[in-house]
Amino acid sequence: MRIPELIEKKRDGRELTSEEIRFFVEGYTRGDIPDYQAAAWCMAVFFRGMTRRETADLTLAMAHSGEMLDLHDIAPIVVDKHSSGGVGDKVSLIVAPLVAASGLHVGKMSGRGLGFSGGTVDKLESIPGMRLTLSLPEFKKQLKKVGLVLTGQSADLAPADGKLYALRDVTGTVQSIPLIASSVMSKKIAGGAQAIVLDVKVGRGAFMETLPEARALARAMVGIGKLVKRRTVALLSDMNQPLGHAVGNALEVREAIDTLHNGGPADFREHCLTVAAHLLVLAGKADRLAAARKLATAALADGSAWERFRAFVEAQGGDVATIEQPERLPAADLVDVVRAPRSGYLREIDAREVGLAAVDLGAGRHKKSDPIDYAVGFVIHHKVGDRVVKGEPLFTVHANDRKRLAVARERVLAAHVIAAGKAAPLPLFYGVIR
Ligand code: URA
Repeated sequence: MRIPELIEKKRDGRELTSEEIRFFVEGYTRGDIPDYQAAAWCMAVFFRGMTRRETADLTLAMAHSGEMLDLHDIAPIVVDKHSSGGVGDKVSLIVAPLVAASGLHVGKMSGRGLGFSGGTVDKLESIPGMRLTLSLPEFKKQLKKVGLVLTGQSADLAPADGKLYALRDVTGTVQSIPLIASSVMSKKIAGGAQAIVLDVKVGRGAFMETLPEARALARAMVGIGKLVKRRTVALLSDMNQPLGHAVGNALEVREAIDTLHNGGPADFREHCLTVAAHLLVLAGKADRLAAARKLATAALADGSAWERFRAFVEAQGGDVATIEQPERLPAADLVDVVRAPRSGYLREIDAREVGLAAVDLGAGRHKKSDPIDYAVGFVIHHKVGDRVVKGEPLFTVHANDRKRLAVARERVLAAHVIAAGKAAPLPLFYGVIR
């Protein structure tokens, strides 16, 4: 088999065989296929798509590119949740300790930032000392001891996704249903989770901008989950405006800490409780969503979710003092409050523009080798539908460079649309795919 022929075959819209897909995934993981050919292959998939069979083959080949964890000796059921990617989406930082505190074992595989969307691994790395590439024995040991473990892709676990994810991030090949579905589900399958809740985002700050596209992605992933006999549910959730207020790694960790202390923005808290409730029902901890929600609400209120987060950070080498005193997390030198230029109602806060502006400030990458500036980002003070009064704070920019700050300020100001007439708030969820 020759890789140029596989690229041409997909470029011309033909279906790849299972062997051809395995050949590509194994060759790229080993380093035999260079980035430029893998990027061309991803671009061909981006434009031509994949059949259901090809997507399932790609997912399984990526999952099998490393070890496949079997965690039955640790817990009867291990759970995981995954977002398809959004702006200000720090839900995993709450839901994982929350359901762990409610008695579930959470073995989670996460990714870094991707395009305009942030990634859980980058967010957690803003806590000094945090280790997010764990060996398999470390993963298992911590799952047993703490009931909660989180790792990125590694040479052991889903290495094909680790490489393809980093490549897609900087080659314009993120927004593809087969590439997202295989990336998400390969991690979940390799990580050994038996019950998986997928938070599929839809809107301007998501990789799927419309509901039909998001539904198609959700169905593709739930279908793969069924194929490998994992209990899988997908929620369709709004990502037109940033989730919560904070966008940017350390800023989002701070907001997560507030939420784990039973505070945080109302929309974000509500979102987390809903995702957690679905996970608790899926894993059999509660038979109805209402009962599951009570469990989750109690774990936030009684401090047990926070305690579990603290134990998790400590177990993975994070400096606990920085989460106990979040003012010690990385902080930007320049903090600029931008005020509303007129009074009215917020009709739109374009999450994609906010996400891209955060990447430009240094919160994400333009090239694979770009370092992350953990301190930078935005705090967006309002939600769509809010009334704002001229001169009141609209958002705050956290930056480490004056020029970048000035550009980000204008971009995020333009992302806020203030209209004279009332605007309806956005819903949090649009549906569930089982
Ligand atoms: N999350 C992932 O893990 N992969 C994607 O491609 C998008 C979101």
